[in-house]
Amino acid sequence: MAARVTGSVFTVARKSGPSAAPEREATGPGGQAAVVTDVVTLVPRDHRQSRRSLGAMHPRGFASDNYAGAHPEVLAAVVAANVDHAVSYGADPWTERALTAIRARLGEDAEALLVFNGTGANVICLAGLCRSWEAVICAQTSHLNVDEAAAPEMLARVKLLPVVTPDGKLTPALCADQVVRVGDEHFAQARVVSISQSTELGTVYSVAEIRALADFAHGHDLLLHVDGARIFNGAVAAGASLREMITDAGVDALSLGGTKIGLLGAEAAVFLRPGPAGPARWIRKQLSQLSSKQRFLGAQFDALLTGDLAERAATHANAMAARLADAVDGAPGVMVTQRPQANAVFAVLDPPATERLQRDWRFYVWDERTGEVRWMTSWDTTEADVDAFAADVREAARP
Ligand SMILES: Cc1ncc(COP(=O)(O)O)c(C=O)c1O
Repeated sequence: MAARVTGSVFTVARKSGPSAAPEREATGPGGQAAVVTDVVTLVPRDHRQSRRSLGAMHPRGFASDNYAGAHPEVLAAVVAANVDHAVSYGADPWTERALTAIRARLGEDAEALLVFNGTGANVICLAGLCRSWEAVICAQTSHLNVDEAAAPEMLARVKLLPVVTPDGKLTPALCADQVVRVGDEHFAQARVVSISQSTELGTVYSVAEIRALADFAHGHDLLLHVDGARIFNGAVAAGASLREMITDAGVDALSLGGTKIGLLGAEAAVFLRPGPAGPARWIRKQLSQLSSKQRFLGAQFDALLTGDLAERAATHANAMAARLADAVDGAPGVMVTQRPQANAVFAVLDPPATERLQRDWRFYVWDERTGEVRWMTSWDTTEADVDAFAADVREAARP
C-alpha cells in the first residue's frame, strides 16, 4: 500500500532484531514520522510503461542513464577510428591506447578486457576470481542479484549470497554473517564480496568504506569486486580519483562502466592484480564478449579516459540530480526519500500522481508497494529538462 506523502526528509533506519526487515523512516517538517517499510524490492521495473510509443511522451526523460544517447565526443572518436583496416580482436592501436589509459587511471597492474555490456563485465570478473564451488556476497538489491537473469550463476558458475541492506551498501559486519562453514565441502565457500558503486539505490561508498570492505575481504581470504556501471558518478560524488577509490583502496576487480556515461555499448572487466586476467581472456571469448572489430570499443574508452570526459559527464549528471531534488523536495505531495548522492533521485508520490506524470514522462516506479519512484539523470540531461520535469512533478503531485 502506498504511503501518504506528507513530509520531505528521509533518514535511513533499521528495525532492531536479527530478522527485522530494513525500513526507511520519513520525518516530515513537523517531525512526524511516516514509515515506508520493505525498501528492498524485487519488482522495481515496469518496462511496459517504457515501451509506450514515443509520440505521446516527452522525447527525453528520467527513466535511466541507459536511455541517453552516446556522447558526441565518443561518436567522433568512433568515426575517426573508421579508417583503413586494423588488426582484429584487440591487436589494434585504439585498443592499445584504451588499455594504456586504463592503466594510467588504475595502475600498471590493471589488466582490462573490453566487452559489450555490464552483465558481461560482471560475469567475466566473477568467473575470473571464483571456482565453481565458490560464492559471491552481494547486496540483495544488486544488479547481480536482481537484474542479470541468473547470469552469474549460469555463466560464472557462482552461488550468490544476497544480503539485505538498509541502503544498498554492504559493510564488513553485514558480510561477516556470510563467511561461515569455511572448509566444509557441503557448503559453497564465500570467495568474493561484490559491491556496486554507485549503488542501485543511488547511494555512494566513501573511499574509507571501500577500503574497510577490502581489508575485511582480504582478512578472510576473500576478494573484492566492484560493479562500476556508474563508477564515475560514484567517484566524483566521493571526491576521489579512480585510483584512490579502486586500486589504492584494495579492490581486486572492477567492472568499468562506459555505456551509462556516454559510450555506445562498451564496458571493461578490469583485474587490478596479476593472475586472473590471463584465464579471463578465454572466458571472455567463451561468453561471446570478444569483439572482432575491437578498435571501436577501444576508441570509445580512449575518448572517455584520456582526457576528463568521464569526470565532466559524471559531474554534470550528478548536478542535474541535485537540481531535480532541490526543485521538488518539500513540494506538496512529493517526498524525496534521500538526498541524491550520485545521479539518482528517489521520491514517493501518490500513485495517481505518478500515473498522471507518466503520461508525458518516462521513469520507473521503483516500489509499487510504497509509491517510490526513481528518476535518473544522465550526461545529456539539461537544466531545461530538469526544470520542465520538476514543474510537471509539482503540478501532478499537488493534492
Ligand atoms: C549496477 C549495474 N550493473 C551493471 C549493469 C549493466 O547491465 P547491462 O548488461 O544491461 O549493460 C547495470 C545496468 O543497468 C547496472 O545498473
